[in-house]
Amino acid sequence: MQYFGGKAKICKSLAAYINSLLKPDQPYWEPFCGGCWVISNIDPVRLRIASDAHLDLVQMWCQILRGWIPPSQVSEEYYLQLKSSTPSAVRGFVGFGCSNSGKWFGGYARDGNGRNYAGNAHNSTLKKIIKMQDVSFSCCDYREYEPPEGCLIYCDPPYRGRPNIRPNTSTMTNSGTGSGEGALITRSWSRSMRLRRTSTACGKSQPRRT
Ligand SMILES: C[S@@+](CC[C@H](N)C(=O)[O-])C[C@H]1O[C@@H](n2cnc3c(N)ncnc32)[C@H](O)[C@@H]1O
Repeated sequence: MQYFGGKAKICKSLAAYINSLLKPDQPYWEPFCGGCWVISNIDPVRLRIASDAHLDLVQMWCQILRGWIPPSQVSEEYYLQLKSSTPSAVRGFVGFGCSNSGKWFGGYARDGNGRNYAGNAHNSTLKKIIKMQDVSFSCCDYREYEPPEGCLIYCDPPYRGRPNIRPNTSTMTNSGTGSGEGALITRSWSRSMRLRRTSTACGKSQPRRT
């Protein structure tokens, strides 16, 4: 699925590097999971937690995990209708997967060759979900979640000033270069975080803490 800022092109090498750092059974958390390009390639022999502040997006992943099949054809009329509708899994799918460059409702995607963007997103999400059967999803701001002790965290927040930006990245300490590949950080970073609200959560193990 197209996703603005998604790591489709480098997910394999990024995940291979992260997998080489992960200790056996070490939990993994991705607080800005987006199109799940990276987490879907993380070694599943561990607790994997995906979260994102985008409600439609998390609803989409949760519903696909539960067996919902996203559409493989989406008309422009339906696209525009969803744009002004309430949050839902299908709105998450269409808002990203059928938009120009995967930008949230950034214009109905079309090219001169009649490419079927919905069909591509349909195939891509269903292929990915096979590798994410045990992933726990939560919809929350990264500051509202307390991850398990000792987990490895991969952060790929949006750039400041770009669409979808909401986090206050100045509160984060990380080892990233700031050039767009994200950052790997450790559990100690999150000691001050507390989960205050989890509006949507799904998966086999619930990562909530009170
Ligand atoms: C660059 S994208 C992540 C792309 C993802 N790594 C991929 O490969 O598809 C950044 C994500 O951060 C999410 N986001 C923005 N503000 C957030 C916040 N305060 N807390 C959690 N997620 C947030 C956006 O909804 C978006 O999905």
